[in-house]
Amino acid sequence: MRMLALYSIKGGVGKTASAVNLAAEAAGAGQRVLLWDLDPQAATSFYLKAKPRIRGGVEKLVKGKSSFDKVIRATDVDHLDLLPAALASREMDQLLAKRGNSHLRKILKPVRDDYDLVILDCPPSLSHLSESIFSSVDALLVPVVPTVLSLRTLQQLQVFLDDHDIACLLWPFITLADRRRVLHREVMANMHEQWPLMLSTVIPSASVVERMGLERAPLPCFAPRTAAARAYAALWQELAQRLR
Ligand SMILES: Nc1ncnc2c1ncn2[C@@H]1O[C@H](COP(=O)(O)OP(=O)(O)OP(=O)(O)O)[C@@H](O)[C@H]1O
Ligand SMILES: [Mg+2]
Repeated sequence: MRMLALYSIKGGVGKTASAVNLAAEAAGAGQRVLLWDLDPQAATSFYLKAKPRIRGGVEKLVKGKSSFDKVIRATDVDHLDLLPAALASREMDQLLAKRGNSHLRKILKPVRDDYDLVILDCPPSLSHLSESIFSSVDALLVPVVPTVLSLRTLQQLQVFLDDHDIACLLWPFITLADRRRVLHREVMANMHEQWPLMLSTVIPSASVVERMGLERAPLPCFAPRTAAARAYAALWQELAQRLR
């Protein structure tokens, strides 16, 4: 069971849009995918038309007692299931902190054989939950808007991981890119040198991505032929190669 997290300290960079679309692409390619909404804002759960609450609460889930059958929902996308957003992340944080080195991977043990891939949609913060994420995933997928500030938060994340001796792979990729903008082009050109593990697919800024909120569905379900949907398909291909 592979695990990837859409992660960034910065908000509004396309974590949720990317988590939902990549999960749908992977499922379309035949992978059995579980998308876990770790953000109390519950945007992922909204996009996939699930109610945000977990029956029995997050405590049961973290203790491993809750039956996953009751909390995991099927979605309208074949092979794609959803673990909806739980309670406030503060609560999740406290529980994980109490349990010491608890890993999200351990929590998922009861369903380990049911999925090929787990994708985590993470809140934009550094917390106990983040440490649990870092120690569980195969890599962090970090969406970077091609601006100086967004790059800076990527560097801050790398420094944090280095300082704490956390060996977690960072796979940055560009989102919300506008190739007509000189600054975007310059930032993108320089990034590849500095971040050798950067994914080469660029997700363009496109209004169809914002339509996901109206359609409440991933791009491949309602706009598969658009440039943005094709970009997510290409990004998934690139990831699939790396995970092989
Ligand atoms: N490629 C894109 N083109 C145009 N709009 C986009 C694109 N990606 C995301 N957006 C829009 O940008 C906003 C933020 O995206 P999203 O919610 O995916 O970011 P996020 O990193 O998950 O934010 P948060 O940190 O709040 O969880 C949303 O309104 C979304 O529709
Ligand atoms: Mg989000």
